[in-house]
Amino acid sequence: NWDMENFIDVKVAEIKEQVGDKKVLLGLSGGVDSSVAAVLIHHAIKDQLQCIFVDHGLLRKNEAYEVMKTFSEGFNIKIEKVNAKEIFLSRLKGISDPEQKRKIIGNEFVYLFDDEAKKLGNFEYLGQGTLYTDVIESGTKTAQTIKSHHNVGGLPEDMKFTLLEPLNTLFKDEVRELGLELGIPKKIVMRQPFPGPGLAIRILGDVTEEKLEIVRESDAILREEIKKAALENEVWQYFTVLSNMKTVGVMGDMRTYDYTVGIRAVTSIDGMTADFAKIPWNVLEHISRRIVNEVDHVNRIVYDITSKPPATIEWE
Ligand code: XMP
Repeated sequence: NWDMENFIDVKVAEIKEQVGDKKVLLGLSGGVDSSVAAVLIHHAIKDQLQCIFVDHGLLRKNEAYEVMKTFSEGFNIKIEKVNAKEIFLSRLKGISDPEQKRKIIGNEFVYLFDDEAKKLGNFEYLGQGTLYTDVIESGTKTAQTIKSHHNVGGLPEDMKFTLLEPLNTLFKDEVRELGLELGIPKKIVMRQPFPGPGLAIRILGDVTEEKLEIVRESDAILREEIKKAALENEVWQYFTVLSNMKTVGVMGDMRTYDYTVGIRAVTSIDGMTADFAKIPWNVLEHISRRIVNEVDHVNRIVYDITSKPPATIEWE
C-alpha cells in the first residue's frame, strides 16, 4: 500500500528529527493504538524507545505472555514488564462499586508506571497512541461522562514530558492499516476493544482470584468458538461476564449451587450505540455447554439480549 508506506517514511523522518538523541518512554497495553505507536516509533529511533507494560493481572487468557512475546522477541523492542497482579488484587479486595474499581485501577496504574519510569532513567518524551478521534473528543469532552474511562498509559501528573503522538492525524481504520503495514500480527491489529480496567469490570461485585479464573476461562472458550464459527468479523465485541449470582443446578444426581455467567456479544460501528449480536442458537448452545462443562463453579449461562442504549456494552 503506497499511501501507508509513504506515511511511514514521512513519520519516521519526523520522529527522528523531533527526538534527536533523546529518549522516549511509552506505556504499552497490548491494545491496537499503543502497539502501533510503539512499533512506528521503534522504527524511527530503535533503542531510544523504552516501553513499560504494566500487567495488572486483569487481562484475558495468555494476553500478557503474547504482548511480551510479540514486542520483545518479535520486534526487539525494549519492554519492562511490571508484574502487579498481587498489588491490584489487594487494592481491589472487597471493592464492588464499579466506579471505585475503575478509580483504584487507574490510580494504581499511573503510580506503578511512574515508579517504573523513574527507575529506568530520564525520558524527554512520552510516546502515546492518541488518535485523531481522541484529539477531537478531548476537545469537546463535557463534565458528564457516563463511565469514567481509564485508558492505560495515562500521563503521570508529576512527570514532565513532551508528548510524541505520531498517530494523532489518523482514524482507527487507518491505524489498523498502518499496523498491518508495519508487520504487527493481525491478532493484535484487528483486536476487539478491551477496557483498561480489564476483567475487573467484567466481574460483578468484588474481584477475587477465583472469579478472575472463571471469567478468564469462560471468555477464552467464547473467543475460541466465535473464531471457529467464523463470526469474528461479524461481531464487534464479545466477552463473558461473571454475575454475582448463584443459582441451583443439577449435575448427575447432585444438586449444585454455583455462578451464572453472562455472554455479551454486540454489533456496533463505534461503541456509542450497539445491538446485541444475533449469534446462531447452535453456536450459543455449544458455547454454553462447553463453559458449564469446562469451567468450575459455573452451572448456568445467560445471553444478554439488550442493545445500547439502554444497556451499555460492558455490565459495569
Ligand atoms: P460501554 O460499556 O460504556 O462501553 O458501552 C463502550 C466501549 O468502551 C469500552 N470501555 C472502556 N474502555 N476503559 C476503556 O478503555 C474503560 O473503563 C471502559 N469501559 C468501557 C467498552 O469495552 C466498549 O468497547
